[in-house]
Amino acid sequence: MTIPSQTLVTAHPVQDATWWRQAAVYQIYPRSFSDSNGDGLGDIRGITAKVPYLQRLGIDAVWLSPFYPSALADGGYDVDDYRNVDRRLGTLDDFDEMVSALHDAGIKLIVDIVPNHSSNRHAWFREALASPKGSAARERYIFRDGKGTNGELPPSDWESVFGGPAWDRVTEPDGTSGQWYLHLFATEQPDFNWENPEVRQDFLKTLRFWSDRGVDGFRIDVAHALMKDLREPLPAWADMPAEDETTDGTHPFWDRDEVHEIYAGWRALFNEYDPPRTAVAEAWVHADRRGRYARAEGLGQAFNFDLLQSAYDAGQFREIITRNLAESEVTGAPSTWVFSNHDVVRHATRYGLPKGPGRNGPAHAWLMSGGTEPVLDRELGTRRARAASLLMLALPGSSYLYQGEELGLHEVVEIPDTDRQDPTFFRNPGSEIGRDGCRVPLPWTAEGVALGFGATAAHLPQPAWFSSYAVAVQEEQDGSTLGLYREALALRRSLQSDEQLKWVDEPNAQVLHFVRPNGWHSVTNFAPEPVPLPAGTVLISSSPLAEGKLPADTTAWII
Ligand code: NOJ
Repeated sequence: MTIPSQTLVTAHPVQDATWWRQAAVYQIYPRSFSDSNGDGLGDIRGITAKVPYLQRLGIDAVWLSPFYPSALADGGYDVDDYRNVDRRLGTLDDFDEMVSALHDAGIKLIVDIVPNHSSNRHAWFREALASPKGSAARERYIFRDGKGTNGELPPSDWESVFGGPAWDRVTEPDGTSGQWYLHLFATEQPDFNWENPEVRQDFLKTLRFWSDRGVDGFRIDVAHALMKDLREPLPAWADMPAEDETTDGTHPFWDRDEVHEIYAGWRALFNEYDPPRTAVAEAWVHADRRGRYARAEGLGQAFNFDLLQSAYDAGQFREIITRNLAESEVTGAPSTWVFSNHDVVRHATRYGLPKGPGRNGPAHAWLMSGGTEPVLDRELGTRRARAASLLMLALPGSSYLYQGEELGLHEVVEIPDTDRQDPTFFRNPGSEIGRDGCRVPLPWTAEGVALGFGATAAHLPQPAWFSSYAVAVQEEQDGSTLGLYREALALRRSLQSDEQLKWVDEPNAQVLHFVRPNGWHSVTNFAPEPVPLPAGTVLISSSPLAEGKLPADTTAWII
């Protein structure tokens, strides 16, 4: 049944079937969260042990990044087996225990699903390599003959998202060089052929498998790439629009209209459950096309990465919020807000660097220089990140938080090359550092070999300065970032109301002031000078007030 969008927009968030509409969702990158068995890798039991921490934090749901068996060619986004748990992370029984512990604590669970590609160790891909050209096994992936006299040239000059060619040549079972397969990401991540009904059926089985185990929702990786038009002649790379610039569904693989047929099928499956399973699309598409993924007949929600890509700037923030809430009115899908995740430089660091647009802005140069150029103002970055996060938590829609941001963690730049893991580092020598710096295991205590993460050194080295950000340290500290998030999340729960917002115009355009229908005000001062506060009771502020005024780079909630 399709619920009219108007009903959804005004639905009360505490009703179970709509829990996700205004949820605070905390992303766990499992291998870097908590290591229960001392092997240096975070695991499922580690998460279960930290459920009291998550409950105290006050989040509504966990989004768990891939925990499936994987060679970790791409941090687990190279999945060997979609219906199992990586042995190093635990067992299916451990998973079930984690689900129960989360549910007992009133926390929902969203798991990551990676449908665009498997790993090259997946049983189907191994079978494809062992089978001849034209076989049914090869039809589950995208195999093509090469060009040139002996097929020695790739079928096209397309580049992988991670750099380098998007096609790789295989060795046929008889030892000769043979066909090529498409991998939009790393070589170890062959793309599935979604024209193949077997692929479709298998993913339905996977979605059912986890839904039956009590999973409440799914985050869909690269949701916009599943359908492909690979009819010859394949266009030249230079003639193809960029990922989020295509607006008419005609790109050979990004954001094709047919992809929504798949999600309509998934929605039918999700709606068989009570409450229906939720889904959020990771789709780096043009803003005008995002709503297609988010509509009720589709996945229901799509990530809006606009704030994450924006500079810390009052005008840009206001435009982004206004545009996305207007979009939400049209689609009926709640907006999503996010500043940090496992793919980008942490926002505390981005905001401590000079302004600049883009996914990582000037942080790219900073990373490449080993953290020296431009100069990072750590304190300013933290202050701004706290202000921005408090602003985000007052917005209607759901907020996605990334593990460690509640500690105000900064990006780690000092990782020796020999410890780096991200394929973008290996595929772009000298021009990309990769995403390992936001994936360094969390500091739980100020002391200990892995700062409380586990009993042995963590799989990515933690810098010495991490200890001052440790959970145990912040729990004892007045005004800590952890304290701010806990207080803000508790208040947010009690204050959440209809999915509406009204801007209150301030004389200073550097001050963003909005009010929710129940009189919950949020005011952020992006200007350098303190500004007067509106009348009312200040519930919380991201930095101490200055003689009753709102200082620079500070957000306050007022009722
Ligand atoms: C998006 C994920 O967030 C990223 O970490 C991954 O590398 C790519 N998809 C490929 O799966």
